[in-house]
Amino acid sequence: MSKLFSSYKIGPLELSNRIIIAPMCQYSAEEGSATDWHLIHLGNLALSGAGLLILEATAVSPEARISPADLGLYSDANEEALARMLATIRRHSDIPVGMQISHAGRKASTAPPWDGGGQVGLESGGWQTEGPSALPYAGTDRPPIQLDTAGLARVRDAFAHTARRAARLGLDMLELHAAHGYLLHQFLSPLSNQRDDQYGGSLENRMRFPLEVFDAVRAAFPSDRPVGVRISATDWVEGGWDVDQSVAFSHALAARGSAYVHVSSGGLSAQQKIEVGPGYQLAFAREIKRQVAVPVIGVGMITTPEQAESAIRDGSADLVALARGILYDPRWPWHAAAALGAQVKAPKQYWRSQPAAYKGLFQTDK
Ligand SMILES: Cc1cc2nc3c(=O)[nH]c(=O)nc-3n(C[C@H](O)[C@H](O)[C@H](O)COP(=O)(O)O)c2cc1C
Repeated sequence: MSKLFSSYKIGPLELSNRIIIAPMCQYSAEEGSATDWHLIHLGNLALSGAGLLILEATAVSPEARISPADLGLYSDANEEALARMLATIRRHSDIPVGMQISHAGRKASTAPPWDGGGQVGLESGGWQTEGPSALPYAGTDRPPIQLDTAGLARVRDAFAHTARRAARLGLDMLELHAAHGYLLHQFLSPLSNQRDDQYGGSLENRMRFPLEVFDAVRAAFPSDRPVGVRISATDWVEGGWDVDQSVAFSHALAARGSAYVHVSSGGLSAQQKIEVGPGYQLAFAREIKRQVAVPVIGVGMITTPEQAESAIRDGSADLVALARGILYDPRWPWHAAAALGAQVKAPKQYWRSQPAAYKGLFQTDK
């Protein structure tokens, strides 16, 4: 019996298997609103048979966007565009759909990766960034403005406001983006947070704002729907955020009702030295799982069914997320189910595609 294809409950949300489609920015929105691209892209992934689809990092305000083409959920127009898209997807797939909500902080106002990814100038449609301290990501960037008390309240409210819009859209869960060097991670790391008020200095102080945002989002989203958090377990820089601090943060999140911790790494500093390889972040997931009573999602170069199966079996993670592997092969869960002798959901229109060698591959209950 495959563990990867066993069901799992994130809080009250029942997933048919442990495969999660990781959030993936598409840089294809207009003024924050989803476009036809999102319908094609997400419609495709919604037929993949994965247990959960997490929508890309979605900005809580215009200045929270990584790029001018980021998806957002801060206006009525954004909400309407997503409502139309979700209605279409739900007519054809019962995959649970979550959303990652985010503020890019000092890493905002950049070009999409295919345009180089560098900071966009104020004269070219860019905007002034903000962060915990006036420390830029790259030496050549405009420094962010340090958020003051009113600024912190504005950002916290923006997260809560977006969570309320997400609730109205009927999204099944929310993920707070506290990884990859974006705003909440910037507060956590001593490399980007050099404040001397109650939001900087000690670990407790650096965790304060991300935890306040978590509480605000948790309170704004229906209590019967999960809210989890994605973290970077390490900055991969000496003297930066690390696994021990991630364990402490995960304890604090679990105590506040975080439904899971999604364990990624890096993205905060240009000085990072990442040791990349198959499943390269699973050791961090395993360590958090060992020390904290919270469901853990492992992610990062999990590409084969056997690798995903063993990550669950050996206790590294409760669930696995895939990004590049499932973009490359959106039928990855079908192939994984075939390889592991399991069953997977597929749309009825495609049932006749089932290869003779894999009889019973598709769940054919409508
Ligand atoms: C196209 C693309 C877009 C991404 N956008 C996001 C994002 O919006 N939020 C996030 O937390 N991670 C994002 N990531 C990182 C992935 O979610 C994932 O953590 C990372 O790619 C490692 O997993 P993989 O080896 O399966 O690709 C993105 C990755 C890719 C390839």
